[in-house]
Amino acid sequence: MSNRIEAAHKLAGKVFGTVHGSLLPQVICDHGEGVYLFDQDGKRYIDFSGGPHVVSIGHGDKRVREAMMAQMEKVSFFFRGFWLNESLLALADRIIKVSPPNLELCQFCNSGSEANETAIKVAYQYHVERGNPEKYMVISRWQSYHGMTLGALSASGHTARRLKFIQLLHQWPKIGAPLCYRCPYQMSYPGCNIRCAWALEEIINQVGSRYVSAFMAESIGGAASACMVPVPEYYPIIREICDRHDVLFIDDEIICGFGRTGKWFGIEHWEVNPDILTSAKGMTGGYAPMAVTIIDGKIGEVFTQKGASFIHGFTMEGNPVSATACLTVLDIIEKEGLIERSARLGEYFFRRGREKLSHHPSVGDIRGKGLLMGIELVKNRETKEPFDPALRVANRMQQIAMQKGCMGYPTTGVDNGVRGDHFLVSPPFIITESEIDTAFDMLDDALTDLEKEFL
Ligand SMILES: Cc1ncc(COP(=O)(O)O)c(C=O)c1O
Repeated sequence: MSNRIEAAHKLAGKVFGTVHGSLLPQVICDHGEGVYLFDQDGKRYIDFSGGPHVVSIGHGDKRVREAMMAQMEKVSFFFRGFWLNESLLALADRIIKVSPPNLELCQFCNSGSEANETAIKVAYQYHVERGNPEKYMVISRWQSYHGMTLGALSASGHTARRLKFIQLLHQWPKIGAPLCYRCPYQMSYPGCNIRCAWALEEIINQVGSRYVSAFMAESIGGAASACMVPVPEYYPIIREICDRHDVLFIDDEIICGFGRTGKWFGIEHWEVNPDILTSAKGMTGGYAPMAVTIIDGKIGEVFTQKGASFIHGFTMEGNPVSATACLTVLDIIEKEGLIERSARLGEYFFRRGREKLSHHPSVGDIRGKGLLMGIELVKNRETKEPFDPALRVANRMQQIAMQKGCMGYPTTGVDNGVRGDHFLVSPPFIITESEIDTAFDMLDDALTDLEKEFL
């Protein structure tokens, strides 16, 4: 370990502790350029995780930097409660244009967790304003992740992130994940008759629909399910059930929004309109923090009719520099056809990923869509038996991949919340086919080394 890293660890140990995982990072980031990050020694890493799932137009884009600087020369902050500016107005207008047609109102904030807190609260106040204050529960799924704050964590079905805080959380009901590789109902598609979707109606009936405010789900899963893609019938059934029981459908697009899966939003693959949609990560491509909750016009109308304001907001919401970053990123995405590129390249990405990795005995499943891929690592491919969680296989995979110069994103818990290792990859949309090949070659080598240690 270099002296600089050792010194950095001493300092980091003092100021951060080891709160995020049990290991301190082994690299100090010097700069980023395109699809690459560079460390303190000038070593280059392909940012094959894109952040995770944040970097869309690549690192170090001069156009974004210049637009942000021009905005800073005018003004860097105003309180959104009293002020708007042109970039914020243009951004809201732009987002609404690309969103599902029923979504007409934007509420900005600073992180995915905040966007989901906002969604939970706006859904509840909508029911309150309509005279149904009993409708408070948010039903969600196991093997899901919606954020670290207490409301979002209550809706999250990621056991490892919940367990230590269980007493602080709302004990809202959860249904099984629509994950065919590990079907929670031990059934197989299509003979299952989409049991995982009808589970929502069962639970609504059991707890009583008069108590249910919303159903929250990631259109395509992220960290907790290793990029699970529900079958085509799933969301149309969910939509029908929500409508029947006056339950709002909150679509978490924190990862999938703004092109990651080859469409503006993941839910478009099912042609279903949610009542509330949240997004963050790729929205500014990582150039500034920003997130958004986008709301059906019918919800806004209820607030207007009642003369009620939404009792919610954050001091830093709608920051004008973040708004400018976001607008510039959206310009680049549109002008350079990066959503179409994400769809087109996504085909290549999955074909090459499967060709280069699926022969490994530790690769149980490769799933996802567009430029979002989850690789599930197993001890035994025939029985799908996961590795012992104490071995921290996914974390080790990340270490080995980084030594080879490739960044992914290690996660755990897909098997009943406590077992299961997965490795997510989601590169910037500007990545080339040859860079995809190089990154998968590195992961191929990394898996060979990993298997020498664990199989
Ligand atoms: C699907 C999903 N929802 C919500 C969040 C929370 O977002 P943030 O970390 O910006 O609070 C994440 C973060 O990874 C996520 O993947």
